[in-house]
Amino acid sequence: MNRSSRPIVIAVDGPAASGKGTIARALARHFDLPHMDTGTLYRAVALTMFRFGGDPGNEFEAVRACEGVAQVDPTDAELRSEAVSAIASRISAYPGVRAALLERQRSFAASSDGAVLDGRDIGTVIAPKAAAKLFVTASAEVRAQRRVRELLERGMPAHYDDVLIDVRARDARDSGRDAAPLKQAADADLLDTSEMDVDEAIAAAIKLVEAKLVHQ
Ligand code: CDP
Repeated sequence: MNRSSRPIVIAVDGPAASGKGTIARALARHFDLPHMDTGTLYRAVALTMFRFGGDPGNEFEAVRACEGVAQVDPTDAELRSEAVSAIASRISAYPGVRAALLERQRSFAASSDGAVLDGRDIGTVIAPKAAAKLFVTASAEVRAQRRVRELLERGMPAHYDDVLIDVRARDARDSGRDAAPLKQAADADLLDTSEMDVDEAIAAAIKLVEAKLVHQ
């Protein structure tokens, strides 16, 4: 591989349950880079509100909850619950919340070790100069199936029809919000994983990133 001296930054964006987290972790391992799952930051704000109170319909209260992010254990199982996911989806639309979490993400992306970040606005807002950008997607039905499997594996209740409705609602909120909406960056490669298993999706992602790094 032709590595330049500039630290490598890889941006992985995509809608809910598209597999971007799995792909980002695999890219981090493959290219030996630190990884940040930025969704966990929004989930940590949501969990803080869920546990200690706060109205997710109130931007001021959501911004205040951002102060608690560093205290949340990133392995806390409740971060992935549907209740917390629903709050995260709502509070992530607030410009004040996005601003409060921006610096933490930007400084991670600026590390001299390089970085892989996954989220919704990495290629567009957090790391617009990333060497490689992937926009990972899959049909809503496939994503709902994956999310059901993931929730059941974690011992959480999940019903396909409910999860599909939730995935669609989250897509609409992520893409429709004014603050950093989910959208493919102009220079991002699209990776549709609807017809791929995990290994195929990871192999395709590595290939796309390698092609970008060679041309750096
Ligand atoms: O895995 P899933 O896509 O369901 O969620 P996630 O990536 O953990 O993100 C949780 C929530 O945070 C989502 O509802 C997104 O709307 C929001 N988010 C965001 O707005 N910007 C990011 N960079 C990452 C997540």
